[in-house]
Amino acid sequence: MKNDAIGVFDSGLGGLTTVKELNRLLPHENIIYFGDTARVPYGSRSPETILRYAKEDVAFLRQHQVKMIIAACGTVSSVVGDRPFVTDMPFAGVIYPAVAAACAATRTKRIGIIGTPATIKSESYKKAILQQHPDYFVATQACPLFVHLVENGYTDFHNPVTRLVAEEYLAPIQAQKVDTLILGCTHYPVIADMIGDIMGADVTLISPGAETAGYAKQCLTEKNLLSNRTENGKNVYYVSDSVELFTENAAHFLQKEVTGTVYQSGWQKEAGC
Ligand code: DGL
Repeated sequence: MKNDAIGVFDSGLGGLTTVKELNRLLPHENIIYFGDTARVPYGSRSPETILRYAKEDVAFLRQHQVKMIIAACGTVSSVVGDRPFVTDMPFAGVIYPAVAAACAATRTKRIGIIGTPATIKSESYKKAILQQHPDYFVATQACPLFVHLVENGYTDFHNPVTRLVAEEYLAPIQAQKVDTLILGCTHYPVIADMIGDIMGADVTLISPGAETAGYAKQCLTEKNLLSNRTENGKNVYYVSDSVELFTENAAHFLQKEVTGTVYQSGWQKEAGC
């Protein structure tokens, strides 16, 4: 059990930002990643569809020996909320680790949240913050174009198109004078330098994937489930669309070439999707 893999899933490639952090924090762990690249994006879909997809993603991961499941997707984590459908092993979404970090970081009790339309509509982050701190102020903003810009490699700090879009999306949040901003979608940490530049040096940016990797480490430590492997663990990736496209684009998220094996999951055929 201790040497079983950590299963991580996302609607596509964005969850690789969490894998990167897991590799850094837990180098001896094996990671099995499932990216539903054939059905991304989830962020513009209904809660019912997102939940159905998430359950199918988890069913795929369960075909492997996994000791913990991480929903790296902000959209899935938002729809699942505090009613996880995985109860027989540790399960983590990104909302609570990110909220804990944001609440610890804010000095002025004013927190901003950006995410996909489904994440913002669910009010998942906002509810989690206000549940713990009813006196906090929370400003939210959906940024649907960011996913497409990042997927298409428009990620350079000086990219004029992404900067224009970012300035437009972030202006209402800036006007609310938040001092902490949760990057509530897997793709946003990839353009964190630009978002940070626009928001200003006084605003602390929180990356849910990184916080969730820290939470996973804590959780596995508490449950005595950390691997006792002495050599480095391996990453194995499954995607529901083309392996070539995954390998080409994954470097944006990992900030290095993919190391590990990538397979086409082929599961939709079996599931008749
Ligand atoms: N992974 C999604 C999220 O973190 C972004 C991409 C999508 O919309 O599926 O919300």
